[in-house]
Amino acid sequence: MRVAVLSDIHEGLNRKNTQTSIMKALADWICQHTPDVFIISGDMTAGPEKSRKLLDSLQAEFPAMKVLFVHGNHDVYADDANEAYDTLLRFPGNLGNGPIELGRDWVAIGDGGWYDYSFGVDGFTEEEFSRGTYGDFTWPDKLHAHWGQSDIERSKYYADKLEQQLELHQHKKIILVTHVVPFMHLVHVKNDPSWDFFNSMMGSSRYGALAKKYGVKKYIFGHIHTRYHEQHDGIEVLCRPLGYYPHEWTNPSADEEIREAIKLIKLD
Ligand SMILES: [Fe+2]
Ligand SMILES: [Fe+2]
Repeated sequence: MRVAVLSDIHEGLNRKNTQTSIMKALADWICQHTPDVFIISGDMTAGPEKSRKLLDSLQAEFPAMKVLFVHGNHDVYADDANEAYDTLLRFPGNLGNGPIELGRDWVAIGDGGWYDYSFGVDGFTEEEFSRGTYGDFTWPDKLHAHWGQSDIERSKYYADKLEQQLELHQHKKIILVTHVVPFMHLVHVKNDPSWDFFNSMMGSSRYGALAKKYGVKKYIFGHIHTRYHEQHDGIEVLCRPLGYYPHEWTNPSADEEIREAIKLIKLD
């Protein structure tokens, strides 16, 4: 079984800024490589309806390929993030609906995840992280994602839910998927507080700890727009963001950048 991995497509922004159809570039790649499964680990675009529509059309265009998804922070930008979360669950391939078996041996388990400041630098209080403002910059989730609960509570919701599912499926080969980052060493520390402060909003060490506890084989995430593909403690770790055009791209066209961003892996 061949699985394509991509995240952080940010369709709206990238379509506007490149003046090209990102979804057409993606469809061309799929036609060429014909994966059996396509895992999109969050930040499809901004807002739940738009994200869901894009996912629905992608799945309709390629009915033989299973599209799996977890939401990113941008996908839940709405007046009520809980409603946004539910809207996105109506996409059948959303792993928030529950684990999806891939062949006889493998299972994909996942959900968006959130952050609990476990990657935050010393010198700030929980209250400062929860306000999310450093200098004159406020973390956009503070303005656009309204859960009606604290970041720490939201992060715990996913961790508890994922742990239940991991426990039930631990006899299988597991691919764990979140949007946010599971391991501290993957977060870029610059020793510049104006950057490092926002590392607190990158993910939670609890997701990484769960992956280790339940012997997960592969961990797929996104959120940080830095590409990774490495082995960590016996886990194949993949972060394959498309990221923002132009400053995060190294190629002039969406076709080329998508080709570089997507990783095709085999399940055996
Ligand atoms: Fe993103
Ligand atoms: Fe994100």
